[in-house]
Amino acid sequence: MPKKKIVLFASGRGSNAIALHDAMVQGVINGEVQALVCDIPGAPVLETAASWGVPVILADRKKLGSKAAFEEFILKAIEPYQADLLCLAGFMRLLSGDFISHYADKIINIHPALLPSFRGLHAQGQAVAAGVKIAGCTVHFVVPDMDAGPIILQSAVPVCEDDTEDTLAARILTREHPTFVKAVSLFCDDKLSIDGNVVKGTTGWDPFKII
Ligand code: GRF
Repeated sequence: MPKKKIVLFASGRGSNAIALHDAMVQGVINGEVQALVCDIPGAPVLETAASWGVPVILADRKKLGSKAAFEEFILKAIEPYQADLLCLAGFMRLLSGDFISHYADKIINIHPALLPSFRGLHAQGQAVAAGVKIAGCTVHFVVPDMDAGPIILQSAVPVCEDDTEDTLAARILTREHPTFVKAVSLFCDDKLSIDGNVVKGTTGWDPFKII
């Protein structure tokens, strides 16, 4: 099966983007990074992607003005790559329905909470404040609503009594990387199908696995 062409989107540190890139280089994911899109000038992930020798697309939201102009810029910039999949790996912008329609069922996001709980920013802080005893991460297909869309995989971690947003975020992050890698790997092997709101093809994944 030919490798899937993947464009990564990230806004900051880029540890999820690195996990996906490395898994592709190691052959764990049957895909190849074509380019990385970043919306924040100076974000550490820009240098990381450049060190991979991958084209870097800086879409500076402030300079580009409107959201429509921002999205138009990105669509034009990634068009030559004919991507099979866009991976939102810590990309902190909500994409419009119009943008998403260009890549229907071909955009995957990771969110640091067990959706549908704790959508939006500071998901780990929301979990701590709510006093839940189990938290985790979700990899899902992207739809216009924020942090909604068919769920591909989830992984769980315990919440400790003395957790802060930061300590819980660090624990969840250790599960984000393998969960994202597995979800993208399943996509690239054409294992996933969407039946309404339910993603099929993920049997065998253990959301409670301790690594
Ligand atoms: C991750 O926790 C991701 O789930 C969230 O933002 C964080 C990005 O981390 N959306 P990184 O840039 O991938 O290291």
